[in-house]
Amino acid sequence: MSSAAAAAVATSVEPMTAAPMTAPIQAHIEQTIEDLLASLPDAAQLSPEQRRGILARYTAVLEGNFIYWMTGAYLAVGTDAARDKIIDNLREEVRDSHPHMLRRFAIAAGAMPTDGDAQDIYRHLTDVRLFIGRLQPVPIVVTMAFFEGFIQRFMPYLADLATRQGSTELEYTDVHGVCDVTHTQELFRALEAEMALARPTPVDELFEGVGLLRTLLHNIVFNVN
Ligand SMILES: [Fe+2]
Repeated sequence: MSSAAAAAVATSVEPMTAAPMTAPIQAHIEQTIEDLLASLPDAAQLSPEQRRGILARYTAVLEGNFIYWMTGAYLAVGTDAARDKIIDNLREEVRDSHPHMLRRFAIAAGAMPTDGDAQDIYRHLTDVRLFIGRLQPVPIVVTMAFFEGFIQRFMPYLADLATRQGSTELEYTDVHGVCDVTHTQELFRALEAEMALARPTPVDELFEGVGLLRTLLHNIVFNVN
């Protein structure tokens, strides 16, 4: 992050004021999402194999890891506000079998992950897994807020890739592309509660997971390690 953004975060710890202390964190997350979206290659210019690769790498990362990472967040947090928010998300993931929904999306687009796809995301996926395993409450909640925000904004692009591959199975992207303002507000209120409970978190720790996840998402799109 820029030094200006770091300064904004560093000076933001001022509870009980009109502006929540999570505001600069939310701004940094939104900017990171905007930058990632702006970097996406034009789907029309990609080859069928390039489109398949993005869909397959995305599936290889999300299908078996999203619930695991949310579970890590659940284990890490210490407040009811955060636990309630995360458990709602987990319940929906399991009840509606989002991994199965994603698998159907990938199959219909002819993009089931191969051994090669798994190998292509191995290194950066491992970095995120090990970060989650450290169970640091505030950095994990920041990371999941970034991830959820990104996924929602990424869905039209993912649906476009699948459609160009001849698929009409878009339940996964329809379900995850809904902009839920209340959900986002609740997520940042949960973060606020966690920050009030935790010791002040240095900026580099605060955004470590966001940086690792951003690298993994870049890896999914561009297949560079
Ligand atoms: Fe989901």
